[in-house]
Amino acid sequence: MAQRDISRSNTRGTPLTEINDTDALLQRLPVSYEEFRQAMRRFAANVSVITCADGEYLNGMTATAVSGVTADPPSVLIIVNHSARSRAIIKSTGAFTINVLAAHQQAVAIHFASKPVDPFGSIAHTIGSNRCPIIDGIVAHLECAVAEHFEFGTHSIFIGKIVGTNVSRFVPLLFHDGSYQRLGGAADAR
Ligand SMILES: Cc1cc2nc3c(=O)[nH]c(=O)nc-3n(C[C@H](O)[C@H](O)[C@H](O)COP(=O)(O)O)c2cc1C
Repeated sequence: MAQRDISRSNTRGTPLTEINDTDALLQRLPVSYEEFRQAMRRFAANVSVITCADGEYLNGMTATAVSGVTADPPSVLIIVNHSARSRAIIKSTGAFTINVLAAHQQAVAIHFASKPVDPFGSIAHTIGSNRCPIIDGIVAHLECAVAEHFEFGTHSIFIGKIVGTNVSRFVPLLFHDGSYQRLGGAADAR
């Protein structure tokens, strides 16, 4: 079957060259949930655990919506669903840590996606400068202080200034097309 060239048209077939007015574009019907889901499944993402602390209570949530923002000041962003317990803690304390998981830590990703009653009861960790947990055996961690916070739809976007970091030589855990993966080697040079 011939592959449809979608590089110059949207999913409804309208040539993108006909859409040159942002306001008009925003008035259009959005793509469906299924179209959104299918497109997002094509992303390959690092898997991280965002940790936070409410006094003695330590929490963590598995996340792929994590990105570097700028090197000056060193900053990152995370996107947190309103349904996540972590959201209220990060909002009130202004602190979180990104724990980038290693390929051998799929069980840790599953654990922190399940709202465990005792999140850190069985997870080896230390406490960082911002009081948030740092999980043992990870690829890298970024300790953050919240600099900005926005709401958009069902999610909160937190921009954090990085106040501490460390890296290891472990290879990262990835999430692609709905399942956990690991790196497969360098891309073809052609
Ligand atoms: C691979 C994967 C990636 C996820 N990424 C995010 C994310 O970026 N943001 C988010 O709010 N939830 C994300 N989730 C869902 C949260 O991990 C899940 O809702 C978790 O239970 C929230 O924990 P909490 O309620 O203890 O904060 C992801 C789940 C999985 C399995």
